[in-house]
Amino acid sequence: MHIRHGLLAATFAGLTIAVANGAVQQPRPAPPAQTPPTQAPPAAPPGQTPPPESPQPQPGGTQGPGRGGRGRGQLPGVFPAMQRPLADPAVLERGKSMYSVNCTPCHGADARGGQLNGPNLLRSQLVLADNDGELIGPVIQSGRPERGMPPFPLPAEDIKAIAEFIHSLTGASRGQGAPPESGAPPPNIVVGDATAGQAYFAAKCSTCHSVTGDLQGIATKIADPKMLQNAWVSGGLAAGAPAGPVIAATVTQPSGEKVQGRLLRYDDFVVTLLMEDGSLRSIRRDGDRTKLEIQNPLDAHQALLSALTDKDMRNVTAYLVTLK
Ligand code: HEC
Ligand code: HEC
Repeated sequence: MHIRHGLLAATFAGLTIAVANGAVQQPRPAPPAQTPPTQAPPAAPPGQTPPPESPQPQPGGTQGPGRGGRGRGQLPGVFPAMQRPLADPAVLERGKSMYSVNCTPCHGADARGGQLNGPNLLRSQLVLADNDGELIGPVIQSGRPERGMPPFPLPAEDIKAIAEFIHSLTGASRGQGAPPESGAPPPNIVVGDATAGQAYFAAKCSTCHSVTGDLQGIATKIADPKMLQNAWVSGGLAAGAPAGPVIAATVTQPSGEKVQGRLLRYDDFVVTLLMEDGSLRSIRRDGDRTKLEIQNPLDAHQALLSALTDKDMRNVTAYLVTLK
């Protein structure tokens, strides 16, 4: 039972992230559409330089946008699972009742494995490879007696209906192996103590934010508590704001000359800055003799993560949702 609870918890965590990205995919009765959604970079207005992603210093490695791991356009993807046309509702209904009588005790009502130790069928390679019962059928008919599954000498039509029913479950998964939609409302994540959250905010956040200033009405601006939580934990990155944070950089050249600007990109060899007058300036890096200092305003949020407990996170969210 502990393992099942663990799975459930992990699933909810995944659900939260998927929902917060606004990317939950409803099953579509369309043939396999398994390519991950392409994520177009935010388009810049004509004549402007596109905003940089958030580069992060990585000692020794190649540095630059796309390597920092928290730039925009890198939200965890949602991969539609086995999308396929569903069988006739009457067939599914029949398959469902045959399945619940014969298979549920071992494989579970949602096919994620059951009390009597049948494996998870949503993740079964055999089920995933099956088209319309040609692989599932023989297993049902002959069973695997030596491994704990008895044979079910059912008529071909029933077997096909069961196979279609199992496919309808995999087709309803949000991602491969994820549980099918239950139709139940998503869990309420506002479970913290708002007063404790307020105290935490005063201690840890008020140096940079104010609830009567920049965060005034944040819960109106971001009405969904899950989105709000993702927004504050990430420092706004997950909320889908169009422009990234402005990252400033100072380059000190071997001559001692300092150049300051908005960091657009950098690697081991070149740093490109957007200067105050709108011009671009690329500076060659001469190993350690060229010093690069990056001031990423979101470093504070990154630093927060290592100290943030689940409890603090719930409390702060419970407080922030009151800021209507
Ligand atoms: C008494 C428990 C039990 C019942 C009832 C049962 N199964 Fe199974 N089933 C198992 C076990 C255990 C395995 C794993 C066998 C193995 O390890 O090869 C299995 C394997 C399977 C597999 C193969 C999975 C794979 O990836 O190899 C399929 C498909 C399957 N069952 C479908 C069904 C269907 C459909 C029904 C109902 C008609 C059903 N089973 C009823 C216990 C059961
Ligand atoms: C050292 C400064 C600093 C600290 C401390 C800090 N933040 Fe931030 N936070 C920022 C910056 C910079 C941004 C980027 C967005 C911006 O420029 O306003 C940001 C963004 C946010 C956003 C997104 C705002 C939006 O409109 O999308 C929220 C919400 C937020 N922070 C909440 C918090 C909370 C809650 C804490 C404390 C647990 C906290 N921050 C601690 C600097 C800080």
